[in-house]
Amino acid sequence: MSESGELSGFIHRFVPAPESTSSLTLLLLHGTGGDETDLLGVGRQLAPAAALLSPRGKVVENGMPRYFRRLAEGVFDPEDLRARTHELAGFVESATRRYGLAADRIVAVGFSNGANIAASVLLLRPTMLAGAILFRPMVPLVPETMPHLQGRPVLLAAGRRDSIVRPEETERLRRLLVQAGAVVALHWEQTGHGLTPADIAAARAWLEEQAPARCDGPLGRDVKGNR
Ligand code: MLT
Repeated sequence: MSESGELSGFIHRFVPAPESTSSLTLLLLHGTGGDETDLLGVGRQLAPAAALLSPRGKVVENGMPRYFRRLAEGVFDPEDLRARTHELAGFVESATRRYGLAADRIVAVGFSNGANIAASVLLLRPTMLAGAILFRPMVPLVPETMPHLQGRPVLLAAGRRDSIVRPEETERLRRLLVQAGAVVALHWEQTGHGLTPADIAAARAWLEEQAPARCDGPLGRDVKGNR
């Protein structure tokens, strides 16, 4: 049964894996102005057998929830971003204990602002996520020390006509993640910033390759610290 409530100060929804046949959890991170219910349907389409964990961003900008402060569109407050990234990681740790999740099988699915904080978690807390699907992400920050993402699979889904994220920005993020050792797939759609059914279909196919529902196989390689 789905649970909603507050944990580590995050309003969130948790939907357990329907038949306990999968140990995969999707961490769903909405875009600016969204909430914890936004991506539940997308999550179910991406991985019908997975558990879904969906926190609402704590920062409110003109009434719109998001995960960290920004100074203007695409211009982030670096200190707030770092602090919020660690705060979100703390929430994931608490949720892992509370809901008995497999800590090494958590895959982030983020859209826009949610993709940006997911990328920040990859860069600042590199062992937290087993992989990530980032819809329309930017480079959230460049870490002082390069993290070791060692084989973690990441899908970047970008729009050729995105007015918020230019193609060069997507390429920059791809290079940064590859430099950190992630295995990055880049998917382009001839579209803008909004999510399309084609993005979801591509992400579903990619996820099925990384974590086949049938055998509950590992994402990337050996997990938990040894990548
Ligand atoms: C952000 O603030 O994360 C980006 O500008 C994307 C957005 O949420 O509009």
